[in-house]
Amino acid sequence: MSLVWHESMSVGIEEIDSDHQHLISIINEFITTAKENSGVVDQATLKNILDKLKKYTAEHFAREEEMQKKVQYLGLEDNQRQHAILTKTLYEFIDNFFGGRLGNQAEATDKINAFLRRWLVDHIVKTDMKMRGNMSAP
Ligand SMILES: [Fe+2]
Repeated sequence: MSLVWHESMSVGIEEIDSDHQHLISIINEFITTAKENSGVVDQATLKNILDKLKKYTAEHFAREEEMQKKVQYLGLEDNQRQHAILTKTLYEFIDNFFGGRLGNQAEATDKINAFLRRWLVDHIVKTDMKMRGNMSAP
């Protein structure tokens, strides 16, 4: 099932919400593609989408940190730490996926789908939601 952005995921900053919607659309592209043909999808196609996700994640995290610096956001350091952890877990999971360390293709696809959902929710709900109401310039 595809991920759906919901108002309750809003951090109250339009630019960040729209970035999150874009992240969701890339993850959905992966989920949909991985499910086509009963999970038998060529690895190059999946790799393309996950590379796009890695690239967009880096851009998005940099954009958030830049915005936080501008308003001297108190959670900046904590957010940077979270971003570093999220980047590491994302890269590791993708490596394990392509390295064949998550089981057969059907199992691996299920595992990475579950991981990506959790990863996105961790980022938005646990980390970014703290920005809500705390991002006005001093
Ligand atoms: Fe974010």
